[in-house]
Amino acid sequence: MSGRLKGNGEPIIAKNLVRKFGDKVAVDDLSFHVKPGEVYGLLGPNGAGKTTTVKMIAGLLSPTEGSVEVFGFDPVINPIEVKQRIGLVPEDHILYKSLTPREFFDFVASVRRLKPAFAKQRLSSFVDAFELEEYFDKPIAALSHGTKQKVSVIAALLHEPQLLVLDEPLSGLDARSARVLKDILNFHLENEGGILFSSHILEVAESLCDRIGIIDEGRMVAEGTVKELRKMVKSVGGSLEEVFLRAVQQDTEVAATVEALRRSLKETRRR
Ligand SMILES: Nc1ncnc2c1ncn2[C@@H]1O[C@H](COP(=O)(O)OP(=O)(O)OP(=O)(O)O)[C@@H](O)[C@H]1O
Ligand SMILES: [Mg+2]
Repeated sequence: MSGRLKGNGEPIIAKNLVRKFGDKVAVDDLSFHVKPGEVYGLLGPNGAGKTTTVKMIAGLLSPTEGSVEVFGFDPVINPIEVKQRIGLVPEDHILYKSLTPREFFDFVASVRRLKPAFAKQRLSSFVDAFELEEYFDKPIAALSHGTKQKVSVIAALLHEPQLLVLDEPLSGLDARSARVLKDILNFHLENEGGILFSSHILEVAESLCDRIGIIDEGRMVAEGTVKELRKMVKSVGGSLEEVFLRAVQQDTEVAATVEALRRSLKETRRR
């Protein structure tokens, strides 16, 4: 099925994805799908393979094994069709730092071949929503981390993509902007788009996602709705954090580390 020019199908179907870097297996036989109108959260600790997975979906890295389909298109075989349908907010700001946001958005609109009136109208709504006016003509290099993140989010949304792929999207956003982004995501879902986002912040996943896939060392260790994940670990009190730590088997390790730290701090105090 991969590689056929279908242009429909589910927002994401990832099948048995593997990505190696030399001997390192960053993603290890990962399968999941994102349904139309669904927010799917990839949750996992640092180094779990979230960014590597996101990059394979966006066509920035090719899988060592397995396949990805984005609305029926394979990012390796049909990169243009996939890029037209995806709005990507990458983990690192791939922004042209010597440009101002105005120049950067003009550049994005021209690469995306957007009609000027369409781009202008969308841009003005986003800039108002994120209160970005005062930074519009300043070099991106001079902006704060959170403001750069807003520029990155707007650039990803500008062409009205069907699928949003957000790698740690709330990183650096203040409470108001995080709220605006959440509202934009809800609005995006109204036209049956899909959203994939990665996070290691559990509360974010809990509040935003329809389904969550917990990954660790490149493997899916648990998948389901928040409710289902809670059920999976009945003995745990009910916070997703405990479920998450248990799934990646860090609960005892974290407890031991915290205990060791507590003892060491106590020691230091006595001296
Ligand atoms: N280009 C690369 N070359 C070698 N190893 C890599 C490369 N990219 C990622 N890795 C390794 O693959 C593993 C997964 O990395 P990845 O960036 O996908 O994790 P992540 O889940 O996004 O982590 P974080 O929460 O810190 O962003 C890590 O061990 C990382 O060191
Ligand atoms: Mg990452």
